[in-house]
Amino acid sequence: MNEDIKEVLYSKEDISRISHKIGLQLTADYKDKNPLVICVLKGAFLFMADIVREIQTYVEIDFMDVSSYGDETVSSGEVKIIKDLDVPAEGRDIIIIEDIIDTGKTLQCLVELFKHRKANSVKICTLLTKPERRVAGIEPDYVGFEVPNEFVVGYGLDYKGRYRNLPYVGILKPEIYENN
Ligand code: XMP
Ligand code: MG
Repeated sequence: MNEDIKEVLYSKEDISRISHKIGLQLTADYKDKNPLVICVLKGAFLFMADIVREIQTYVEIDFMDVSSYGDETVSSGEVKIIKDLDVPAEGRDIIIIEDIIDTGKTLQCLVELFKHRKANSVKICTLLTKPERRVAGIEPDYVGFEVPNEFVVGYGLDYKGRYRNLPYVGILKPEIYENN
């Protein structure tokens, strides 16, 4: 599957270093707050595992599965909840862990949802951001890396369910999705 990757952008080591740095910030920012850390499935599963192991204070963990993309590489702007939280968001300090912010529409919907549910605070932590593509007026509070306006996969991110297990983030060769 490596032959489907045009260029490796961030290695396992790069991601490990940035997770450590973000973990230090979160530890300081959330001391004594018992935050609810929410992994947005499926793309954020590896980054989530890295981040929570770098947080040196009490946290609770939950998972949400939302869909905005299906198998396409262009955002539909609609977010459907496939799996909701197991615990109430009311009164909680929420940290949303995402794989990538592209247009920002997915996160905008999630932030609005948690505010509607009366969360005490909502912050966003994302492994990747594609600032060029932003449409929604939403920016992450904790960011790993910026990526160019190309389709990236690996380290949790997929194309048609594949490549999530790559131990790095790389640019998918356009012919892979153009020919499908
Ligand atoms: P929006 O546009 O709502 O999209 O910010 C966020 C979701 O879109 C997916 N996405 C990608 N997935 N490579 C991927 O594997 C990409 O380059 C990419 N861009 C957006 C992703 O699921 C994210 O949660
Ligand atoms: Mg995806």
